[in-house]
Amino acid sequence: MPFAKITQTAHYVPDNIVSNDDLAKIMDTSDEWIYSRTGIKQRHITVDENTSDLAAKVGEQLLLQADLSADQIDFIIVATISPDSSMPSTAALVQAKIGAHRAFAYDLTAACSGFVFALSTAEKLIAGGYTRGMVIGAEVLSKSLDWSDRSTAVLFGDGAGGVLLENTGTKPLIIAEHLRTDGSRGNSLTSNHLELQPELLGRSKPVAEFIKMDGRAIFDFAVRDVPKNIQETLEKASLKPEDIDYFLLHQANSRILDKMAKKLGAERSKFLQNMQDYGNTSAASIPILLSEAVKNGKLSLDRNSKIVQTGFGGGLTWGTLIVNL
Ligand code: UT7
Repeated sequence: MPFAKITQTAHYVPDNIVSNDDLAKIMDTSDEWIYSRTGIKQRHITVDENTSDLAAKVGEQLLLQADLSADQIDFIIVATISPDSSMPSTAALVQAKIGAHRAFAYDLTAACSGFVFALSTAEKLIAGGYTRGMVIGAEVLSKSLDWSDRSTAVLFGDGAGGVLLENTGTKPLIIAEHLRTDGSRGNSLTSNHLELQPELLGRSKPVAEFIKMDGRAIFDFAVRDVPKNIQETLEKASLKPEDIDYFLLHQANSRILDKMAKKLGAERSKFLQNMQDYGNTSAASIPILLSEAVKNGKLSLDRNSKIVQTGFGGGLTWGTLIVNL
């Protein structure tokens, strides 16, 4: 059975930076509140690029780094909750933009767990015989934010990150995994709900549904269910936290990372963190973190490093992959 290998990583964020102080000029908030409660200092907010533009930039970068042509790509999965449109999918738009005309392409919706779910899926596609694919997490969450709601508007940002996956591995890429969903708790984090035929049934057309979050409920979910999930996945692989080089967790809140490290009995310094620069970019947060760690030399794709990748968020969804790079 062929083994998948992550052979390239890349990320792209829009140039426009919005600081906490910038937000404090348009809503009743402060840098002190945002930074102390979340660890976020700034976020990148797109001016004229949509989700597929950010994802295509990542795709182009992956091809460039790998010295491949676009027609050597078999599949493209884009994890996103902020697609350009429901149809065509963002992945189809990326396929067209980078000219990967042989590739099949589809979006995967699992909110902040999207990249983890997509990488798990892609690994199985490689095991099933495909040679090469891209897994990209991309979000323009700024278009789903209610800029008059300070409890959500300060948290999120735009960006994209991704990996090139090829069938050239000599060992299993994912040592253990545990993916979870609990739809019964889905109401605590929602966006873009569509009403049933408002005009036809004489109902007034609802205003657009923005991201709504019961922050406390999601915080509790994150610090209760997620460390358990990581622990169970480590046990499946007969590994301990000290065997892990780095923990790459979804970047929602630095206080969540503090609590995770404590609950797992793991060194906090092993939990990579970049929400200070990007805010919460949902499905893009883990691949951006991975790409940065490779770029700054913390991680190498060829050093046999063991990393934990854990997503958690809307759905509710959560899940862990233990990845052997
Ligand atoms: O990506 C999916 C996963 N998402 C997460 O994991 C997010 C999980 N939740 C959280 O990270 C935290 O719950 C938040 C950062 C969202 C909120 O932190 P909190 O400590 O739970 O604050 P809170 O919602 O309880 O609000 C505390 C106070 C309230 O005022 P009162 O009622 O105490 O007077 C809020 O109105 O802070 C107020 N507040 C703000 N003040 C200044 C809420 N948002 C802001 C703001 N600026 N932006």
